[in-house]
Amino acid sequence: MLKHIIESQQFTVPFIIELFESAKRMEKIFHRGGTQDYSNKIMASLFYEPSTRTRFSFETAMYRLGGKVISTENAKEFSSAISGESIEDTIKVLNNFVDIVVIRHNEIGGAKRAAEVSTIPIINAGDGKGGQHPTQALTDLYTIYREIKTIDGLNIALVGDLAHGRTIRSLAYLLSKFERVKIFFVAPDPLQIHQDICDHLEENDTWYCKENNLLKIINQVDVVYQTRIDKEKLNVSDAEFNQLMQAFFIDRNVLNQLKQNAIVMHPLPRLNEISAEVDSDPRAAYFRQAQNGIFIRMALLAYLMDKY
Ligand code: CP
Repeated sequence: MLKHIIESQQFTVPFIIELFESAKRMEKIFHRGGTQDYSNKIMASLFYEPSTRTRFSFETAMYRLGGKVISTENAKEFSSAISGESIEDTIKVLNNFVDIVVIRHNEIGGAKRAAEVSTIPIINAGDGKGGQHPTQALTDLYTIYREIKTIDGLNIALVGDLAHGRTIRSLAYLLSKFERVKIFFVAPDPLQIHQDICDHLEENDTWYCKENNLLKIINQVDVVYQTRIDKEKLNVSDAEFNQLMQAFFIDRNVLNQLKQNAIVMHPLPRLNEISAEVDSDPRAAYFRQAQNGIFIRMALLAYLMDKY
C-alpha cells in the first residue's frame, strides 16, 4: 500500500494495471462532468518550479473529484520559502491544513524530504533536473497501454536530453518492470542516459542500446518518445546546434519512416524538436497523452484519499 508517490521504483505491475483500470473509470466520470465523492477533501499544490500540464491537470483532477484546491504556482517567491523556511517546516504546517500535497521542487530529493516529515500523502510532481516525475511516467505508460494495447514486447525510442530529463528516468524505471521491452536511448553523446539507469536495466534484464541518430532505428520502434534539447546544455553555436538537431528532429519526412501503427509521444512543453506539421498525423499522441494525465491523476488522488 503506497502512502506517498515519490519515484517509479515504488510501483508494482499489479498496482500499475489496477491504476490503469481506475483511470479508465475516471475518464468516464470526467466526461460526465465529475463527481462530488471527495467534496470534504482539500489538496495543496505547492510548485517551486513553473508548470502548465502537471499543476493544471492535478488541480483539474481534484476539482473533477469534487475536492478543493489551495495553490501556489511560484512557491519560491510567493511562500515563506523566500524568508528561508525549510520545506520540512512548510509541510508540517500544511499537514494541519489539507489532506494531500502535490509538490514540484527545484532540488532532486525535494519531494522525498517532504514525505519524510509528512503525516498526509505527498505526491512528487517533478524534482530537480535529473530527478523523477513519476506521475508523468504513469501518464506516459497509460498512453502506451491505451494506444499500443500492450507494454510487454514494446520497442521504444527515448530521445533528447536523457541526462537531465526526469520524465525519461521515471519512464525507464517503469518500463523495466515489463517483459521483453527494448529501449533505444537516442541522444547527443554529452546528453546520453546516465549509468545508474543502465545499471538498473541490466539488473532487471531489460534490453537497451545507445544511439546518436533517430533515423537509424525509427523503423524498428512502436513508440518514439521525444523530449527537449536545450542548446545551452551543449555549449555549441546556433549553426552547430541546428546541424546536430537533424539527427533528432521529427518532421513529416521522418514520420514517413515510422510504422503505421506506431505513435509519437512528448511530455511537453516542446521547443522545435517536433515540427508542428506532425500534429495532424493520427500517430501524434502527445496532446492525447497530456489529457491522459488528468485521468491518471484522478485515479492516484482517489487511491490515496480512499486510504488516508
Ligand atoms: N510534462 C510536464 O511536466 O509539463 P509541465 O512542466 O508543464 O508540468
